[in-house]
Amino acid sequence: MIAPSPHDDGGGFGLRAATARDGVAMWRLACASGALEPNTPYAYLLLATHFASTCLVATSPELPPGELAGFVAAYRPPSRPDAVFVWQIGVAAAARGRRLASRLLDALVSLPACREVRFLEATVAPSNTPSTRLFKGFARAHGVPCEVGPGFTADDFAPLDHEAEPLFRIGPLKGTTPA
Ligand SMILES: CC(C)(COP(=O)(O)OP(=O)(O)OC[C@H]1O[C@@H](n2cnc3c(N)ncnc32)[C@H](O)[C@@H]1OP(=O)(O)O)[C@@H](O)C(=O)NCCC(=O)NCCS
Repeated sequence: MIAPSPHDDGGGFGLRAATARDGVAMWRLACASGALEPNTPYAYLLLATHFASTCLVATSPELPPGELAGFVAAYRPPSRPDAVFVWQIGVAAAARGRRLASRLLDALVSLPACREVRFLEATVAPSNTPSTRLFKGFARAHGVPCEVGPGFTADDFAPLDHEAEPLFRIGPLKGTTPA
């Protein structure tokens, strides 16, 4: 696991494993993101503790203490041991466009908990262009295909009015360093 003290990601951000103290900040960032579904603070506390080995946060000296520049919340799906599933990734508006999300994904697949991982998965709403470009760019940087298959259909969300979320399956990843 990445140590709780941040290491510089090369872009001026510190990346480190999430801890319980990050849960509320992750929730706040998700609420402010304009695109992520806001879950409860408790859900982010669970991610930052039970799933800490696959959840990373990004800090920045430019931000007030306690605020995050970004986070990625992921887990290993029990039925697909060769995959890591990105449940949410978010970057604070002020930190966007500096490749932080791309670095978070690279750091995620480099974690010890992802040593056996060959596929990075996420469901992506087709209307979310930044998210689509992020995951396709990750596939391109690693020189592997991004297969788009059935994920969650609009019917799965009924009676809510929610766009379908196809599954992006990216891999097979050959190593931890982008090609
Ligand atoms: C999606 C998000 C995480 C991207 O963060 P970021 O740090 O700005 O992304 P990066 O700088 O690493 O850019 C990654 C790719 O996305 C593209 N991109 C980023 N923002 C974009 C935008 N607003 N419009 C179009 N493309 C965009 C970049 O050009 C880059 O593509 P490239 O590799 O082809 O050049 C950020 O916009 C965000 O937090 N959005 C709200 C939450 C969300 O939608 N999360 C994803 C669903 S879980």
